[in-house]
Amino acid sequence: MIERMLQVPTIAELRRHVGEARRQGKRIGFVPTMGYLHDGHLSLVKKARETCDFVVMSIFVNPLQFGPNEDFERYPRDIERDRELARSAGVDLLFTPSVEEMYPHQVLTTVSVAQVSEPLCGQSRPGHFDGVATVVLKLFHIVQPDAAFFGQKDAQQLAVISQMVEDLSVPVEIVPCPIVREPDGLAMSSRNVYLNPEERRQATVLYRSLKQAEAWLKEGVPLDEIKERMAAMITAEPLAEIDYVEVLTYPRLTPVDTASPGQRLIFALAVRFGRTRLIDNMMVTV
Ligand code: PAJ
Repeated sequence: MIERMLQVPTIAELRRHVGEARRQGKRIGFVPTMGYLHDGHLSLVKKARETCDFVVMSIFVNPLQFGPNEDFERYPRDIERDRELARSAGVDLLFTPSVEEMYPHQVLTTVSVAQVSEPLCGQSRPGHFDGVATVVLKLFHIVQPDAAFFGQKDAQQLAVISQMVEDLSVPVEIVPCPIVREPDGLAMSSRNVYLNPEERRQATVLYRSLKQAEAWLKEGVPLDEIKERMAAMITAEPLAEIDYVEVLTYPRLTPVDTASPGQRLIFALAVRFGRTRLIDNMMVTV
């Protein structure tokens, strides 16, 4: 069978093709991305194919979610390569709108999810999650999927989207997908290409510190002490500069002093190597 994938740049064409699939009774799965695809993104497509008959992927580097001094302009892009990867992973329809197609006029409406957007990356990237929630709700309205697939790599983003969908009764099932890692443990990310070889080597400390945290938690080490030990481990790598090392409840992301049995916690960190900011996390049920 010939694998066919259509690529469309406009909202009108996207709606036409998805509408046709829906009329055929197909279940629509949606994987929103910013492109520069890697196995993390492709794992979401694989998951979507397990439960959906028609898989839509969007590739759109969304200016609304980048701060003025962030990497919007230099964010890696390679649409030819992405198209081939998406096609072979089994995407049926690839949506690649321009910024003008998505935002032809100044955007006056934004979606803001209180509390869940505030800690962690919300502190270091003000407005970031408003930009994410706004574009994701817009994409949901464009695609109108039955299910949408998000990686736990961006655990706070997943919590924000889930809260938004619940609060606004958006008729989409949100499916969380596990973090895909390189063989040495580094979480896959489009931004990993920014790292020079030495930064790349030292960046494995993120995952190593999370695995240690899990072990320390099992030994009964208090949460504050775990955070301190993680921070010490990370700063032992000379090029690492900590943005945050936190432990919070999940998915509400509220502070926690002592872990209580049955509680779901997230160890989350953001660390800079040169100009590159990496995030990683681990969820544990105490
Ligand atoms: P992007 O960073 O391209 O990620 C797209 C999706 O891939 C997200 O759901 C993200 O969590 C998932 N993902 C990235 N790396 C992963 C990994 N190593 N393992 C598993 N999943 C991984 O997240 C965004 O784009 C944007 O904010 C977006 C939701 C598209 C809105 O603009």
